[in-house]
Amino acid sequence: MSRSAHPAGPRHADVLTEGHYSAPPADLNALDPKVWARTVSRDEDGVLTVGGRTVTGLAEEFGTPAYILDEADFRARARAWRTAFGTDADVFYAGKAFLSRAVVRWLDEEGLNLDVCSGGELATALSAGMDPARIAFHGNNKSTDEIRRAVEAGVGRIVLDSFQEIVRVAHIAQELGKRQKAQIRITVGVEAHTHEFIATAHEDQKFGIPLAGGQAAEAVRRALTLDGLELIGIHSHIGSQIFDMSGFEVAAHRVVGLLKDIRDEHGVELPEIDLGGGLGIAYTSSDDPREPHEIAKALTEIVTRECEAARLRVPRISVEPGRAIVGPTAFTLYEVGTVKPLESLRTYVSVDGGMSDNIRTALYDAEYSVALVSRTSDAEPMLTRVVGKHCESGDIVVKDAFLPADLAPGDLIAVPATGAYCRSMASNYNHVLRPPVVAVGDGEARVIVRRETEEDLLRLDVG
Ligand code: LLP
Repeated sequence: MSRSAHPAGPRHADVLTEGHYSAPPADLNALDPKVWARTVSRDEDGVLTVGGRTVTGLAEEFGTPAYILDEADFRARARAWRTAFGTDADVFYAGKAFLSRAVVRWLDEEGLNLDVCSGGELATALSAGMDPARIAFHGNNKSTDEIRRAVEAGVGRIVLDSFQEIVRVAHIAQELGKRQKAQIRITVGVEAHTHEFIATAHEDQKFGIPLAGGQAAEAVRRALTLDGLELIGIHSHIGSQIFDMSGFEVAAHRVVGLLKDIRDEHGVELPEIDLGGGLGIAYTSSDDPREPHEIAKALTEIVTRECEAARLRVPRISVEPGRAIVGPTAFTLYEVGTVKPLESLRTYVSVDGGMSDNIRTALYDAEYSVALVSRTSDAEPMLTRVVGKHCESGDIVVKDAFLPADLAPGDLIAVPATGAYCRSMASNYNHVLRPPVVAVGDGEARVIVRRETEEDLLRLDVG
């Protein structure tokens, strides 16, 4: 591995007017536990270790780029959510954040349920032996084939997203001689303070049925008349990467308001409400996420209070965290390929992956952290932008980051908190191969999703 020094470019943040990295951190070698998986530390040589394995060893064995997932951390976070909500509530892990058969088995063992949103996710869950009764099926345009498979399999609930779907699911269930448990997803009109593309409860977007104008009440009216459906509750998901609980407070207030209207109109108290997922995680040191027990306490209190005021029985609550469980448990390990200082701007560090393994920076302007992990360094901080190998100037992994000025080709760097929505949103842009997911724990490492190969690409290309 080359250790040669090179012109470092600007050393300070004077070119940055805003952003998390307006000043270099005091210690570039430090690993903030807020953003790194729990078993991460440095060994006596300064090499990052996770689950008892060094990143240099992992890179040698599995190659780079690779997503490295701390299994003990995943299980601990899943368990913390489960424990925090107790036996009177259900935790559905949102598989869209990251799903594989190993993950399904961990969830099963830790007592969590699973939210799937496509036939592919459903197939993954079923093939790993998940009890269908513990699966919720989501999506704003489930195909009739997907609905049929879900009903046939016996999923615990289907979350209905439109008037057409209410009829469609009822019809398919009836054809199959079943009565399908279902919730209706409503939009409560809350503006979650997050990026527009990941906010979902304001009305001008594709998900759910608006509470406004009586549409949700009308959906309930129709669902209650259909023999193929057993309406068990109302669902609301207000968005993603949310830190402020006030959006959930308003959502719970409005969902309970609808439950009360349903009771008054139909004499039926629906037994469940689902408040969705969306709880934020720390991507950088300036993010301060809440712990599952605080979230559970806050949500339970809000719902209980609202129900008492409406004189309703408190329904069984469910939540659907995805990012908050898997996000912090993995990092992406890259090898530095080129280091290009741009006079009076910054230094561009190119890695062997990019927007195909992490589209979030390009898509949502997401902020990430990064660290040199194959060694420590006493060199000065250098302002960098970590970029990928794709033919696109927006191919940025970390917009603004300080790395040591002696960073060189062959060094390993890692981007923490990439467990959610990175592998699951990975693409083959430029025919770059999607990285593996390697689970580590107790000194062992095993591939849970293997690296894509050129044969995989060519297999789809039938000529
Ligand atoms: N439940 C429902 C109905 C959802 O739509 C979602 C996320 C979740 C639960 C899980 O949300 P989480 O706890 O993971 O935030 N690709 C975006 C996130 C899209 C989320 C879509 N729905 C990102 O990378 O930030």
